[in-house]
Amino acid sequence: MNKDLQKKIDQFTIEGFQKQLINWYRDEKRELPWRESLDPYHIWVSEIMLQQTRVDTVIPYFENFITKFPTIQALAEAEEQEVLKAWEGLGYYSRARNLHSAVQEVQEHYGGVVPNNVKELERLKGVGPYTKGAILSIAYNIPEPAVDGNVMRVLSRIFSIWDDIAKVKTRKQFEELVSVIISKEYPSEFNQALMELGAMVCTPTSPACLLCPVREQCHAFYENVQHELPVKTKKKATKQVQMAAALLYDRQGYYYIHQRPSKGLLANLWEFPNVQLKEEPSFTYKKQLENFICDEYSVEITLTPLLGTIQHVFSHLTWNISVYSAEVIGSSNMKGLIKVSEEQLKAYAFPVSHQKIKKMYAENTRSE
Ligand code: ADE
Repeated sequence: MNKDLQKKIDQFTIEGFQKQLINWYRDEKRELPWRESLDPYHIWVSEIMLQQTRVDTVIPYFENFITKFPTIQALAEAEEQEVLKAWEGLGYYSRARNLHSAVQEVQEHYGGVVPNNVKELERLKGVGPYTKGAILSIAYNIPEPAVDGNVMRVLSRIFSIWDDIAKVKTRKQFEELVSVIISKEYPSEFNQALMELGAMVCTPTSPACLLCPVREQCHAFYENVQHELPVKTKKKATKQVQMAAALLYDRQGYYYIHQRPSKGLLANLWEFPNVQLKEEPSFTYKKQLENFICDEYSVEITLTPLLGTIQHVFSHLTWNISVYSAEVIGSSNMKGLIKVSEEQLKAYAFPVSHQKIKKMYAENTRSE
């Protein structure tokens, strides 16, 4: 621990802080579906879903997921496509694939019981320092830190910590700090209270300091610098990628879809045929896409005029997709595409951008 922070901890009333924080949590906490369960598997699922995703978004996904896969065994035995389908629209799909394979590992090696120790938990796919701490503290009431962005925001303000929270070294410092101040009696409530405070009171842009149960011990509040903390280096601007996609259909009412590779962005999800466009097109977008579909899938098509464009922002890049459609005639030799009916289409997991392509096509054909 650095000296400056150690000095602040020495002057800090740990027990008073724990009491104020936990009492506030007991009075004010939101009723959330995963808070009704003590099942470590349910806690695990919720914590994975809550990474990079808002609570309101997660609630219906969590409920649906637990209904579909109520136990470790049920999830372990499910097909990956079923799992991806239940995750459809939630984003960061590697979370779902990692959770699925980690749960299979737990089923196989730990008899379906989520490990309750650091060593075994951290070996599981997709279980990083935060998730490990969240499972141990919330599911097993073990005093381990669970430090995510919210918790770093809260603690950077309380202790006036100006290190860059994007750095691993800084996160480790916060973990050390939590290890010291965490309630050894009520670690589950303590960690959840820090998260709840970050979500409800100590918010990024307009913290409600006057409602804060621990403002008496908050350095940032006294120095009036709560709006300047935490310090976080800005990410580079996201890369812009131009793409074109084609919704291919035929007279019999089938659609033609493609499965993405098993590695990389949106791995194993399904999509409509599409291509990344050359920066300076010697062909029009439409022609580039027609040529690509012909070369890649051996299907000759003529695209209709542009139906519209779709933008989808990922954490590191933005897709700008020009959307076309075309009727497929006599599709005998189509490598790399499968043919599905409208009804069958519903069983495949698509990224949100491609769900929008389908919707755009449906709206266009309806108005004809
Ligand atoms: N964010 C991350 N974990 C959470 C939890 N258990 N409850 C509410 N928000 C959270």
